Amino acid sequence: MHLLAIETSCDETAAAVIAETGDPQKPWRLESNIVASQAAIHREWGGVVPELASRQHLRDICGVVEQALETAGVTLDRIGAVAVTQGPGLVGSLLVGVSFAKSIAWTRGIPLVPVHHLAGHIESLVLQHGELPLPAAVLVVSGGHTSLYLVREPGRYEPIARTRDDAAGEAYDKVAKLLGLGYPGGPVIDRLAKEGNGRAYAFPMPRMTHADRNQPKATAPEGLLPPKIERSVDFSFSGLKTAVLREVRGRQLTPKEVADISASFQRVVVGSLLDRTFEAARWLGARSVGIAGGVSANSRLRLEAEARGAKLNLPVFIPPIALSTDNAAMIGAAGLRRLRAGVTADWDLNAMASLPL
Ligand code: KG4
Ligand code: ZN
Repeated sequence: MHLLAIETSCDETAAAVIAETGDPQKPWRLESNIVASQAAIHREWGGVVPELASRQHLRDICGVVEQALETAGVTLDRIGAVAVTQGPGLVGSLLVGVSFAKSIAWTRGIPLVPVHHLAGHIESLVLQHGELPLPAAVLVVSGGHTSLYLVREPGRYEPIARTRDDAAGEAYDKVAKLLGLGYPGGPVIDRLAKEGNGRAYAFPMPRMTHADRNQPKATAPEGLLPPKIERSVDFSFSGLKTAVLREVRGRQLTPKEVADISASFQRVVVGSLLDRTFEAARWLGARSVGIAGGVSANSRLRLEAEARGAKLNLPVFIPPIALSTDNAAMIGAAGLRRLRAGVTADWDLNAMASLPL
């Protein structure tokens, strides 16, 4: 069976065709994966402008879907189901994908499968590597989210930790803006950091100490992690962003300083992400670690995660870059998983700006 997947949650118009393999260990095969990025449009504004994003999705969606079918060498007659990102994301952007997917499913008389964007990021790991050794600790780290999940059985994602403020990708984008590096910030900081000294600036490592009286509830269900750990595995990046702001405010930076700040910022982000992920993985008895989402394209994060995994004899899985940042292939993978679990949408399916996983 071939499934057509559509993703339009933010500023990428994406379509993909995924086929079932019949092999339970590696259940899906990627037939095509087309992404039209709007980065050039939003760069001018220093970030995604929602109204411009939805209008551009409208322009691009037909061509992107046609190209996905053509590259896969199939016509719509061969498509047995349509999967689409229902949320979370920009509601105007999501609506383009949801309406388009609905129309195809309705006119062809085939099932429509609603997919959570983060489930897509998690399933990008299975699409690439096959089923992970379970239980797995999976970090989803993107522009909108930084969350850790425990996967004890395929398709079930239990939240273990989340960011208390900014997502890691958002911190990358904001710091890049402070440094005058443009949008999106992740890839530029990643590149400049290679030429900088990661120890030049002593930016603070985020810590969850919670001396305050209003300490938030732990993200993980009670009993999964020891009480002393369950809150400290949450993430936070706004303090780090402020520390960079204090450092650069009102100053004319040399290229060397920009590279050093990039490297120092990146060292702290990567350290903080991996410390918590591996700490949680250890307590949860994880047999593998997965890292997905746009920030998993980061070269330092990849290298360090592999190195830590090798040291602990814990396999680490990361998607290739094309499946790290937003794409529809991952939505197709998660869609086939849901379809086989019996989940389909009614014709009143609506886009959801926020949606629990
Ligand atoms: O998953 P994604 O494409 O979209 C969301 O679901 O948010 O993630 C986009 C984020 C952006 O914040 C971007 O700056 C970041 O991923 N990113 C990176 C890199 N490539 C993309 N961050 C760090 N290093 C990279 N190489
Ligand atoms: Zn994403």
